[in-house]
Amino acid sequence: MVKTRYALVGTGGRGFSMFARPLVRDFADVADLVALCDRNPKRMAAVTQRLGRDIPSFTSFEEMLEEARPDVVIVCTMDGTHHAYILRALEAGCEVITEKPMTTTAERVRAILDMERRTGRRVRVSFNARYGAAAEAIYRLLRQGVIGEVLSADFVEYLNTSHGADYFRRWHRRKENSGGLIIHKATHHFDQLNWWISADPELVYAQGRLAFYGPKREARGERCLTCPHKAHCAFYLDLTANETLRALYLEAEEADGYWRDRCVFAEEIDIEDTLAVIIRYQNGVLVTYALNAFAPFEGQRIGFNGTQGRLEVDLVNEYHGPDEAGRVRVYPLDVPAVVRVNPLFGHPYTVPIEAREAGEHGGADARIREHLFREGLPDPLSQRAGSWAGAMSVLIGVAGNLSMETGQPVRIGDLLNP
Ligand SMILES: NC(=O)c1ccc[n+]([C@@H]2O[C@H](COP(=O)([O-])OP(=O)(O)OC[C@H]3O[C@@H](n4cnc5c(N)ncnc54)[C@H](O)[C@@H]3O)[C@@H](O)[C@H]2O)c1
Repeated sequence: MVKTRYALVGTGGRGFSMFARPLVRDFADVADLVALCDRNPKRMAAVTQRLGRDIPSFTSFEEMLEEARPDVVIVCTMDGTHHAYILRALEAGCEVITEKPMTTTAERVRAILDMERRTGRRVRVSFNARYGAAAEAIYRLLRQGVIGEVLSADFVEYLNTSHGADYFRRWHRRKENSGGLIIHKATHHFDQLNWWISADPELVYAQGRLAFYGPKREARGERCLTCPHKAHCAFYLDLTANETLRALYLEAEEADGYWRDRCVFAEEIDIEDTLAVIIRYQNGVLVTYALNAFAPFEGQRIGFNGTQGRLEVDLVNEYHGPDEAGRVRVYPLDVPAVVRVNPLFGHPYTVPIEAREAGEHGGADARIREHLFREGLPDPLSQRAGSWAGAMSVLIGVAGNLSMETGQPVRIGDLLNP
């Protein structure tokens, strides 16, 4: 059997754990990882060392394409650079798998859709959030019509002060790199909503604030490693305490100056930590979406209102509290994972959400990899996502950013066809 030749561009935490390691470890029967590409040679060296495999590594994407001749390029760099690799890979005749968000601006969305049409090559977007047990349960129940026709939805995303803070330490904290959390993070949720509702978005209105992080504190250093306040700061990140953080970031930083532990209370932060978004879909469905990046717990609360009732899930299953030494710890909450269905004029009932073996993103990463790397598998829940899904989800975020700037609602059609 001829194996598919994959090249990975962007060998950071996600590139290693989501793609490089599983390709070598779990998909060797169908896949060859023929090249790594990153602007930081030290990080690539750390990755090859951890893979235990001498994979050809390139700092030049052109040289990589020329020498390694991949069939598929996997794009896992900083969000604001995805488009350059997607466009060039398509032009060179490769297929593309890109991490979310597909890109960060409307112009780049249009360029990717256009290049895909011109080259006939395919872009797939790694929307792992479609593969979670709760996401699948919601999709199935909505399709079964348990609440009739969906009329509106509400989605609240809570990021805790560990996960949430991480977006304010490094490149994500600049809109030019990530598009802000309304693109970088919410692209998952907008895609889920588009998929659950099975319609394209039409109009977006958004408000946002940098309310908690950013230059809110007097006492702060440039980075945790050398910070005089580290003993008292609840946001202190110790890069030396974790093997992955040490090998992939701390020991690689002299090559590109990428500090993984910048202060979350810095001046240069220009993304929002608080978002409120309204979306109207082409089929009339209305969505209210909110994101909070400094919550005392992690999770989501999602609900759908239909002609025959309401369906909702509460995925908050932890809280933050001090341990005996006064340090912040995450405590699990013993809440059953269920979808609650409240039929109009009927008795409410619950549907259990399948318990899955632990794994990255609740096992979702392993499931999407099967779809990405094994061709021909069935797709009964329509989870495979291409460039259109990537575009629709990014454009809600782009429209939201524009709406925050202007105070006006923004039409998705105007971004697609300016
Ligand atoms: N689907 C998910 O659940 C999920 C989770 C985490 C990250 N991601 C996505 O994965 C991507 C990588 O995130 P990460 O957390 O690994 O970030 P990271 O900063 O750890 O890694 C990014 C890598 O890209 C490299 N890079 C940056 N700009 C580059 C350029 N112009 N050319 C070549 N290499 C460049 C960096 O050197 C680094 O090695 C992002 O797009 C992010 O949104 C997705």
